[in-house]
Amino acid sequence: MSRFVVKGGKKLFGEIEVQGAKNSALPILSAAVLTRGENIFYNCPRLTDVDACLRILRYLGCDAKVQNGAVLINSDGLCESEIPDSLMREMRSSIVFLGAILARTGCAKLSFPGGCELGPRPIDLHLKALRKMGAKISERHGSLVCKAENGLKGARIDLSFPSVGATENIILAAVLAEGTTTIINAAREPEICDLCEYLNSAGAKIYGFGEGEIVIDGVEELYAVSHNIIPDRIVAATLMSAAAVTKGEVTLRGVIRNHLSSVIPVFEETGCRIRVNEGDLSISAPERLRAMPLVRTMPYPGFPTDAQAPLMAAACVCEGTSVFVENIFENRFKHVGELSRLGADINVQGKVAVVNGVKTLYGAPVEAQDLRGAASLITAALAAEGTTEIGGIEYLERGYEDFEIALGSLGADVRKI
Ligand code: EPZ
Repeated sequence: MSRFVVKGGKKLFGEIEVQGAKNSALPILSAAVLTRGENIFYNCPRLTDVDACLRILRYLGCDAKVQNGAVLINSDGLCESEIPDSLMREMRSSIVFLGAILARTGCAKLSFPGGCELGPRPIDLHLKALRKMGAKISERHGSLVCKAENGLKGARIDLSFPSVGATENIILAAVLAEGTTTIINAAREPEICDLCEYLNSAGAKIYGFGEGEIVIDGVEELYAVSHNIIPDRIVAATLMSAAAVTKGEVTLRGVIRNHLSSVIPVFEETGCRIRVNEGDLSISAPERLRAMPLVRTMPYPGFPTDAQAPLMAAACVCEGTSVFVENIFENRFKHVGELSRLGADINVQGKVAVVNGVKTLYGAPVEAQDLRGAASLITAALAAEGTTEIGGIEYLERGYEDFEIALGSLGADVRKI
């Protein structure tokens, strides 16, 4: 179990390239199952979740490898339609393989994705949509058995919630289905758009992505292409928080400003100066951050739930009170108890966290319990006086590429032990 040792109090200075987006790479690697030939993916982040994805692809019979920093996937050899429990458990989001395997082979067997650290992770919206497209799905002994012997048929799908994963699974099931599929109340996240851009370049016919209604006309075949994964907006928000909390001055290279349109105003409200020039975003922080405006997590383009924990670390040392409302996941304040061990003053009532800013945080041993919580603890440790040891870094490595090296390149004192 790896741990980080952080010596706080160092201002972050300099510039850094933002890694490729985890939540874009995972569905796109799954979508490669639908194509003939060899795909080449550039800017794919080196993460344990991506490694788990490649292991699943190889298990299915695909050729999946990393070469000179690019990920190469050729699914011509696909010969399996079941993902074993051991591989499913490695990555919660492997449910996104369901739509792709079902569309490619007409059947799919995978174990019910366990809950995760964010609370139960239902997939009712995924299953209801796939059944409407003609899939027969039975759930027994903890696994899902899905069949679509006569192939999948296009349908109109009304999502009661703009679920990212359900939208992705419907798109993956629909691109080779017979007829047209319309998704109403679809998720609008940039990662959905990146998936659709990739699929359209491979020959799919998908319209309206980024809006609430997506139309997919089924086609016969998809052909492998090369694709550049978009930058990770949540890693960008986390680095902005690290700069803010250490009174630093950092330039992020290769960001897409629009993807941060609900995050930038929060930092500006605290007194940070933010300048965007082409794909570069520079943030310089004041000596003392002012309190954040009310932060309510919402589906895109609202404030992203994944940025809640990393930004709460900065809120801990703001002057005044900041309030966070977590509307997306029911158990996403696990980092609060650990931040309090560093001296933060936070009260949680249901889905509301009230953060009373303190002047100083103090280093202490803490344990991460989920991916973004780990990022939150590291960010707070950068500001804390003294040394903080953080356990549970395997959570961090699911989504942040070599984070101790990234922070070290900006002047932080972070050691991995
Ligand atoms: C994706 O998860 C991301 N993961 C999450 O990022 C992100 O927090 C989330 O979208 C919201 O933006 C990946 O892309 C791999 P949802 P997903 O389906 O697809 C409920 C991270 O930190 N729901 O939009 O699971 C669900 O319980 C991760 O990188 C149902 O009730 O998110 C949750 O409360 C964490 N039934 C809410 O909707 C369903 O069938 C949002 O879920 C599906 C979802």
